[in-house]
Amino acid sequence: MKSRASIKGHPIHPILVTFPIAFFTGTLVFDVLSILKDNASYRQTADYLELAGLIAAIIAAVPGVIDYFFTVPPASSAKKRATQHGLANVLLLLIFAAAYLLRVKASFSVVIGLESAGFILMGISGWLGGTLVYRNQIGVDPRYAGAGKWNEAYLKDQDKLIEAAVSGELQNDQMKLLHIDGKRIVLAKTAEGYVAFDDRCTHKGGSLAGGMMVCGTVQCPWHGSQFASQTGDVKAGPATKNIHTYETLVKDGKIYLSLSTV
Ligand code: FES
Repeated sequence: MKSRASIKGHPIHPILVTFPIAFFTGTLVFDVLSILKDNASYRQTADYLELAGLIAAIIAAVPGVIDYFFTVPPASSAKKRATQHGLANVLLLLIFAAAYLLRVKASFSVVIGLESAGFILMGISGWLGGTLVYRNQIGVDPRYAGAGKWNEAYLKDQDKLIEAAVSGELQNDQMKLLHIDGKRIVLAKTAEGYVAFDDRCTHKGGSLAGGMMVCGTVQCPWHGSQFASQTGDVKAGPATKNIHTYETLVKDGKIYLSLSTV
């Protein structure tokens, strides 16, 4: 699922998170060194690193929040994981902020304790973030058969028939993700004609538009469930429930979609 906060298809959040990770790790390392070496300059370096980490974390959170709301498929296992990832990040930010504010007043063992807790939380959050990218493919910019690019459009449900594409826009086995008043529907072209179906895989909510379409069968990118795009029937699990399909109509070089389910 292509990131909504990206530059030329490169998601911004994974680029920016390297900064707070480096700064917060450096904070803990220099604070420990300042004790081991009894050297105040290490402690001062940690002061600066901690402040830089807090600022960098807030900046990195912006594209992360955009991806949370606009990229991660709703009502999916990835949304749950992304929520845990976000909460872990907020908590570790608060922990490092508390450690920064307590640097002068509290005992140094309290500061090191807080920073160690924040460091462990950062590892847990990184694990969740990695799963979101490497397993759930959040931020992956897919290509379709015939080297077609990821295709996406935002439409309004104003008429009975919604203009969804123009003919020639999609080749066989290519898909287009349509956002229609909060609904996510995939329009696809097969050898038999145009089809439309819910973007949500009935297993754990994977985005089918981010998967693969071969000979009219769409495969979910998360655990490989397959559905007949024409009828919505499950062809292979782990999904057990069919997906909803919608009527399409080709008229005057345009492809229309009706939201009444087939
Ligand atoms: S979410 Fe598991 S197969 Fe689609």
